[in-house]
Amino acid sequence: MKISANAKSVSASITMAVTSRAQQLKAQGVDVVSFGAGEPDFDTPGFITDIAIEALRAGKTKYCPAAGMIELRQAIADKLLQENGLEYKASQVVVTVGAKHAVYESLHATVDPGDEVIIPKPYWVSYPEMVKLVGGIPKIVNTDPENGYKLTPDLLKANITDKTTVLMLNSPNNPGGFCYSPEELKALGDAIKGTELVVISDEIYEKLVYGDMKFAAFAAVCPDLYDQTITINGLSKAYAMTGWRLGYVAGPQDLADAVNKMQSHMTSGTATFCQIAAIEALKKGQPDIERMHAEFSKRAEHIYKRLNDIGGVDCPRPTGAFYAFPKVSDLYCKFGVKDSVEFCQLLLEKINVACVPGAGFGCDDNIRLSFATSIEQIDKGLDRMAEYLK
Ligand SMILES: Cc1ncc(COP(=O)(O)O)c(C=O)c1O
Repeated sequence: MKISANAKSVSASITMAVTSRAQQLKAQGVDVVSFGAGEPDFDTPGFITDIAIEALRAGKTKYCPAAGMIELRQAIADKLLQENGLEYKASQVVVTVGAKHAVYESLHATVDPGDEVIIPKPYWVSYPEMVKLVGGIPKIVNTDPENGYKLTPDLLKANITDKTTVLMLNSPNNPGGFCYSPEELKALGDAIKGTELVVISDEIYEKLVYGDMKFAAFAAVCPDLYDQTITINGLSKAYAMTGWRLGYVAGPQDLADAVNKMQSHMTSGTATFCQIAAIEALKKGQPDIERMHAEFSKRAEHIYKRLNDIGGVDCPRPTGAFYAFPKVSDLYCKFGVKDSVEFCQLLLEKINVACVPGAGFGCDDNIRLSFATSIEQIDKGLDRMAEYLK
């Protein structure tokens, strides 16, 4: 069959080889410890599931407006105001099929063929591919491990050309496990003041911030850039609702209208009964968020300490999301591997520990370990790594 040039431009996931081998080993009965999860290991809180079941039984199984139920859009607008200090009308909010599609539609709405999109690395694996899908050019920006892999105002300015239209920001960060402070975000905002750059701020890990770090929404710390900012968020990570496909985009009215129009032709929005449950989740989910956060917070500190006890492994302290992102390239030579993919293959074959190669996120010196798994599993995996890598 003829496959379009656009579809061909998309890269296959570099992480898939390790993931499918891990699944194969598990199916053979091998005791694989997996640090691969990109989702909370908790169940969706019961009260949310109950509401969805009631909604199904009550026949809430029909289409709803493509942009989402107005009650949910209003609940999201209320959340953005109360928790983030962001003023959006319900009409400026569009409910999407996960935060992933919110990012994709935002890029679709703002990028023309040939436009450059600045993506600091490490980056979430889907950003560059989505940019290519909408005809844009991903402009990957190297960051400095010494600066915690964060984009700086100087780096940002140095990478802006007359073709740059969008800056992708993701804080708290997947895979880096870091979070930008409000001051750091403000400094980035100051660097683009006076330009027409659109900032797509992916805040899906908002609720997962640790230690002294404080989460801030980009548009809240850079009010001058309010009309240039698209805020992305959703319920997947904070409420353990990854499979419900509930994300949203909030931004200027013309952007929300454009996303709404596209969405009416692409997905017709997310499932009605999921949206009904989301309204209640937003209103009553705080205790559950806190319960899961407390557990993630313990694990973040634990994995950080244990990883740094292994010689040749250098891990920044996780301050956000549920990932540790250690540099392990000092071990490549000793173990006869050339990159992060081979390193992860080695860990999987020799000690049955599955990690994600940093190459998929633009950082071949690193590997990603998710701590969306129990302390017992973390210890089991790290015992094996400490013994094998010593
Ligand atoms: C940085 C980032 N943005 C967006 C998403 C997508 O979230 P959702 O499951 O709501 O589509 C993910 C999921 O892994 C992510 O890591």
